[in-house]
Formats: sequence, C-alpha cells, structure tokens
Amino acid sequence: MNFGAGVGLRSAMGEGSDMAVLGVDFGTSNSAAGIAREGAPQLIQLEADEITLPTAVFFDFDRKKMLIGSAAGNALLAGEEGRYMRALKSLLGAPLMREKRNLLGEKLDFIDVVSRFLARVKTAAEAQTGEKFDRALSGRPVRFHGDDARNTQAEADLREAYLRAGFDDVAFMFEPEAAALANRAVLDPGDLGLIVDIGGGTSDFTLFRNEAEGIDILASHGVRLGGTDFDRMVSLETVMPLLGRGSEIRHAFGGETHTAPTTIFNDLATWQKIPFLYAPDSRRLAKDLAQYAVEPEKLGRLVSVLGDELGHDIAFAVEAGKIAANGAGRGAIDLGVVERKLSVVLGDGMVEGLLRPMADEMAAAALVTMEQAQIPPDAVTHLVFVGGSSLMRVTRDALGAVFPQAQVHHGHALTAIVDGLSLASATAFD
Ligand SMILES: Nc1ncnc2c1ncn2[C@@H]1O[C@H](COP(=O)(O)OP(=O)(O)OP(=O)(O)O)[C@@H](O)[C@H]1O
Ligand SMILES: [Mg+2]
Repeated sequence: MNFGAGVGLRSAMGEGSDMAVLGVDFGTSNSAAGIAREGAPQLIQLEADEITLPTAVFFDFDRKKMLIGSAAGNALLAGEEGRYMRALKSLLGAPLMREKRNLLGEKLDFIDVVSRFLARVKTAAEAQTGEKFDRALSGRPVRFHGDDARNTQAEADLREAYLRAGFDDVAFMFEPEAAALANRAVLDPGDLGLIVDIGGGTSDFTLFRNEAEGIDILASHGVRLGGTDFDRMVSLETVMPLLGRGSEIRHAFGGETHTAPTTIFNDLATWQKIPFLYAPDSRRLAKDLAQYAVEPEKLGRLVSVLGDELGHDIAFAVEAGKIAANGAGRGAIDLGVVERKLSVVLGDGMVEGLLRPMADEMAAAALVTMEQAQIPPDAVTHLVFVGGSSLMRVTRDALGAVFPQAQVHHGHALTAIVDGLSLASATAFD
C-alpha cells in the first residue's frame, strides 16, 4: 500500500525484520491495540468484552497494587485508599515526567507508570495472539504541545516508556494519518478527504487524497485541545464557582478583600493535575482561604473536596453532564458526592455556548492544515469525523461551518486510529 510521502513513520533502528509489530493507540482517555490479519485490522481484547481500555491507573495503597483501566476507575468510585491518575498522556514532555516519587514502596517516575500501562497492553496482545511483539507502531498526536521543545520531548518520553515496557523498538505514526488509512474506503479514487480526529487531549487533522492503490497524505496538523479541555471549561464555569472560584477573601488585617487565587481551581478542573492537589500545601492553602472567605460555605467545600480526594469524582460528574447535555441540549451535573443534593443545571444551549470558542479554535487548526497543503477548503470532498469528542455537536457544527460543501462521514469514534495503526503495523518497519 502506498502511504504517501508524508506518512510520519520513524524508527530508531530502521532495519526491517520479520519480528511481530503491535499497533498501539495510546490515547489521553482510551487506549487500544491491534494487528493486521489478511489485510484487515484485528483488535486485541484489552478488558473483558472490551477492545478499548481507559487510560487510567490506580495505585491501591491497601492491596499494594497498580490497577489499570476500568479496574482503576472502579477502585476510585468505590472510595478505595489510593492514588488515581487519568490523562497521563497530557503530562508527556513535561519535566515532572522524570521526577521520581515513592509509589507503593518503589521509586517510580511517570514514564514508569506509562510503561507499566503499555506492558499490560503488550502482555494482553501476546496472550491472545500467541505472538511475541518486540516492536510497536504507536500513534502520536501531530502536536503533543504547541511548544516545539516540549513536543519533541513528549515523543522521547513516550518512546522511553515503550522501551521500558519491553519493546525493542517503536515507530510513530500521526494518529489522523492512521485514521485516514482506516477510512479510505469511504472515498472514491481522486476524492479529497480531511480526517477530523477530536480526542480527549488533542485535535488532529490529515488532508489526504484517495488513490486507487493507497492514500496520498497532503498535510497533517494538530492542536492541544480536546474533550478534557471541554470538561475543564464546563467545570471552571459551572462547578468551581460553587467551591469558591471568583469568591472574595478577606485580608487577615483590615477590611479589604481580594479574589480567591485561580490556580487551585484551574488544577482541580484539569484531569491530569488533580492528583497533585492532594499535596499538603494545596490543602493548607484551601484551609487558609476558607478561614478568611466572605463565603465560607463555598471555600469549605473546596477544603472537603481536597481532604476527601474528590477531584476525580467531580471530573467524572462533569464529563457525564457534558455528554448528557450534548444529547439533550441541556442537563445537569450531579455533585451529590460533594454535598447532598448539590448539582449544577446546564440550561438550554449552555454547554454549546461554553465550548464553541474552543471548537472554533479546532476549526481554525483544520484550516491551517489546508494552508499547509495550499489547497482551498472548498476542495475537500469528504469530512471524516473520528475521536470521542467528534460526537459533540459543537465540534461538528464548528468544523461543518468551515467545510460546508464536504460530505460528512462518521468513522468509528473510538477505534478508527487503532484500526489504521493495525493495518500499517505489518509494514511499519519495512
Ligand atoms: N458520547 C460522547 N459524547 C461526547 N463526548 C464523548 C462521548 N464519548 C466520549 N466522549 C469524549 O471523548 C473524549 C475521548 O475521546 P477519545 O477516546 O477519542 O480520546 P483519546 O484517543 O483517548 O485522546 P487523544 O486522541 O486526544 O489522545 C473524552 O473527552 C470523552 O469525554
Ligand atoms: Mg485518540
């Protein structure tokens, strides 16, 4: 198959051999893996009856175990003693990836945590296929970060996680290019397709022409914005005010007040930052704020949310509210876990209104892809939506508005990328 000159395959070893290659979509929210069988993707069952695995871990302090995927989420919801982490991919490239910390009696950095997650994927694939996977073809967003140095470091971090997981080598492919491979059958030869992959952490675009014998990649571009940013925005604007965001704090002396500092609320609304808020200094800050608060009942909630480690419970409630409001146009965020009967009403069109500016930024990034290829937007014949956040009406509306003439196709939201990586895995190291 002709992938076209633009397909971003890179390998440290470069040499081809007949060792088996596993295709892996390490996603911000969900991961998946697969191989090619007779020209079709065959996905690995990563959990009971599931081909996708939540990208989440839980360090269970009682059982002294690292739980992965749904088991991690279940332990969190059951209130087990431990540390939950989701959206680890968003931390790739940050200096704290390589900071060692004590976890279950071991000195680990977050590259180790990612590598253990990937090792689980490798083990499951080997158990199911009877093959040994020495190499991986991994997806990656076109831009992990806007900043070039961080973007490069993020791939280096992810590569190291694969190596520590027991793979001898890893090649990377841009996630939307994988989705293009998986969806080319939707287009006739000569048609011009734009993959719109709106995931949990990033939005990624590939412009490609379908040819009789393969695809020709014309440009790829991406932006660090996805469904977890939608969650953050909804949380910041609707939930965090109930915990004291924007609330006034009295000065210890005199009658003056100032607005509560924003960082703590920003972090509490951001999936990958929540675990860091349970450190003693954040809890102390919350208590200080509550002591001098003009609205102590609100800051009191912040104190108990940090004390009882309810940050992720709130994030899950916000995500569920976002998805419900997307279907019905309105909804609610159930905050019963914070306080009996506490909830946020998401009125008509409110979620759409909050998220539209970010969706417009995603659409602007799609237009940058067109500029890179020097092809006018109205030449796109097919818009192919993949990624969980492409299920949000606001993203479809924003993207549809800049490509009004294109035929819209919906690929497999959660498996299009791994399908393409599986197909490409067979020849990734040739
Ligand atoms: N039914 C739905 N409606 C709206 N959004 C949804 C739905 N299901 C999942 N999502 C959102 O999709 C996002 C996850 O999508 P996906 O699994 O494609 O991301 P990912 O591949 O893990 O992330 P990335 O590719 O950015 O690394 C989450 O933010 C989630 O809230
Ligand atoms: Mg994805």
